[in-house]
Amino acid sequence: MSQLAIKGGPITINRPLGKSWPIYGDLEEQYLSEVLRSGKWWRGAYSDEAVAQSKVACFEQAFAEYQDARYGVAVTNGTQAIECALKALDIKPGDEVIVPAATFVASATAVILVNAIPIIVDIDPATYQISPDAVEAALTERTAGIIPVHYGGYPCDMDRLNAIAQRHGLFVLEDCAHAHGTLYQGRKLGARGDMGAFSLQMGKTLTCGEGGIVLTNDEKLAEKAFSFHHIGRMPGRPFYEFHLVASNLRMTEWQGAITLAQLSRLDEQARTRDANARRLEDGLRDIPGVAPIERVTGLERWNFYFYHWRFIKDEWPEGVTRDVFMEALGAEGVPVHLGHLQPIYQNPLFVERNFGPVAYPAGVEPPDYSAVHCPECERIFREEGISMPHATFLGGTEDMDLVLDAVRKIRENAEELIS
Ligand SMILES: Cc1ncc(COP(=O)(O)O)c(C=O)c1O
Repeated sequence: MSQLAIKGGPITINRPLGKSWPIYGDLEEQYLSEVLRSGKWWRGAYSDEAVAQSKVACFEQAFAEYQDARYGVAVTNGTQAIECALKALDIKPGDEVIVPAATFVASATAVILVNAIPIIVDIDPATYQISPDAVEAALTERTAGIIPVHYGGYPCDMDRLNAIAQRHGLFVLEDCAHAHGTLYQGRKLGARGDMGAFSLQMGKTLTCGEGGIVLTNDEKLAEKAFSFHHIGRMPGRPFYEFHLVASNLRMTEWQGAITLAQLSRLDEQARTRDANARRLEDGLRDIPGVAPIERVTGLERWNFYFYHWRFIKDEWPEGVTRDVFMEALGAEGVPVHLGHLQPIYQNPLFVERNFGPVAYPAGVEPPDYSAVHCPECERIFREEGISMPHATFLGGTEDMDLVLDAVRKIRENAEELIS
């Protein structure tokens, strides 16, 4: 008789793991109703005092403080947070910005949207984060900056990346869409380089449905980001005086209300995810054929959007691939997925260079992305990486024990998968 659920055997886990997402309660309702009754549904053209009391301003301040940054500018979404930060950083048409191959495509398309050129580099297989060696190898005289993406909420090697940036006069803009609340070397992320950009979209670990925020420690950059998100207005200047060509990226008070309430839950949720991740890591280390991503020194608390771990192909019988293993895991009741599926340069937008109405200076062209090859990233997406959604990690550690039971069961009955 078969043991594995995928072959008709009993299912290991027959209840949902973790919690369903999003989580909300009375505080969200209270803040929303306060906004409704106030009649001030945007951050506004009111007195300075009223603006400072807006939900958006309260959120900006509270989140910046939480992430160990001085200033925050809340915007409409994470993609525009990156665009807004790039503009504040004075990006010029044709500038090159180095981004990792493993990320959501917006880390690179935001670069194109400000008329700059993403240069896509490989990741470090030990951490799945942008490889500082690959960054160094990609530098040219056109390089203006680096966008390290804390992929899956795991911290990039900020010390090395900042050192490279300093040596070559580059900016560092952290894409923190996956990393709210991660604690690294005693501090959170987002103001470890020049600026940080966060997404607050529905799936993220801090959300208001759609939203984003830019963080920085630099007052001038904060002022410029503020202006770029506010149609070119400057703080402290008359409302109908404009200083820059800029769009309206303002977050509404509804979003501010929800995110401010959600922020009060983030730290505890981050601690729960981290404790569960540690339990899973301990178990995965003891099972042949799988492994966790080991934590770098200084990673004190890993909060994540996706949680990544590894399938070690060479330790399985011939014919048992990562995809077969994942199907078997799914059948046992473990929620697993492939994350972003492929290195970003394999998307048609890059292969065909469908960049739309971009304006590069004469003689400046983006590279032929169909010739880009990041072997580690390709291998990881093809045969090694396994992702799990963050809300799976919001229950008790017994949920992780069930996941480990399923992994062990598949390992012990791997021969059943060869057919
Ligand atoms: C790494 C990364 N950067 C940027 C974004 C863009 O954020 P948004 O969807 O809020 O525009 C995302 C969204 O998933 C992301 O995963």
